Amino acid sequence: MCSKVSKADDDLRKLLSEKRLKSVEDRQVGSEVFDKLTLETLYKLSKMGYVHILNGAISTGKEANVFKGYDKDGTPVAVKIYRVTSSDFKKMQHYIQGDPRFHVRTSNKRQLVKTWVTKEYRNLKRAYEAGVKVPRPIIAKNNVLVMEFIGDKEGNPALPMRQSQISNPQKVLEKLVNDVKTLYTKVKLVHGDLSSFNILIKDDEPVIIDISQGILVDHPLARELLNRDMDNLIKDFKKLGIQINKNELKSKIMDL
Ligand SMILES: Nc1ncnc2c1ncn2[C@@H]1O[C@H](COP(=O)(O)OP(=O)(O)OP(=O)(O)O)[C@@H](O)[C@H]1O
Ligand SMILES: [Mg+2]
Repeated sequence: MCSKVSKADDDLRKLLSEKRLKSVEDRQVGSEVFDKLTLETLYKLSKMGYVHILNGAISTGKEANVFKGYDKDGTPVAVKIYRVTSSDFKKMQHYIQGDPRFHVRTSNKRQLVKTWVTKEYRNLKRAYEAGVKVPRPIIAKNNVLVMEFIGDKEGNPALPMRQSQISNPQKVLEKLVNDVKTLYTKVKLVHGDLSSFNILIKDDEPVIIDISQGILVDHPLARELLNRDMDNLIKDFKKLGIQINKNELKSKIMDL
């Protein structure tokens, strides 16, 4: 364990001394997240100009850590790094199977995480191009996804809906329902993990994130997941004093 940590630190130091990544503020997270594959991936992304500087972690999740970084032009980016060791492979396989876009029958964990990150990138791209408010995806490489940084003018990351002070919840709800409807009817995607954890609030408007498990509407799990997403919305907005009728919500989202 100790040697693994110091190896990762050595690699990181090398990366920094080569001035590829100018700074990594969060050294503690460094040892755990930055295994060899991740360092090599970040190194390549830095050579390509996508991630010039990597700052501290915005979030440390179950499977992924999200950092704020800057590209070579100084534009802030969000860098989501999946930890190969703590990824939930059963879940990943479950969602990837039945998706005709991916023909991965592998038990190779790195390969599976790479497919998962590609899936998140492609889901974001489809949604973004259809006009759904999601972070613009920039590049996916191995276990790393680089995307638009969602934050304020001072550079602070936008807060998830569950931590935000929402001045007009009805307006946020309408925008969300509209976006989920576009996702369903035009993008042909169900988010599958929609909740106040995966909705950021920027300038009083919702931005949908974390769409890696998103599946196509004709996937066998789609109905069940759409139902769960709707139940979550109903629960979250109830806390904000808004009652939603599930049948009405369903008709709106599915454009019935
Ligand atoms: N594009 C972004 N811009 C700013 N902050 C972001 C962005 N994407 C994610 N974040 C921050 O990182 C947090 C976690 O992101 P996300 O939900 O995508 O991963 P996760 O829930 O940790 O993933 P998992 O649960 O699979 O480990 C978000 O709640 C948000 O605070
Ligand atoms: Mg999340």
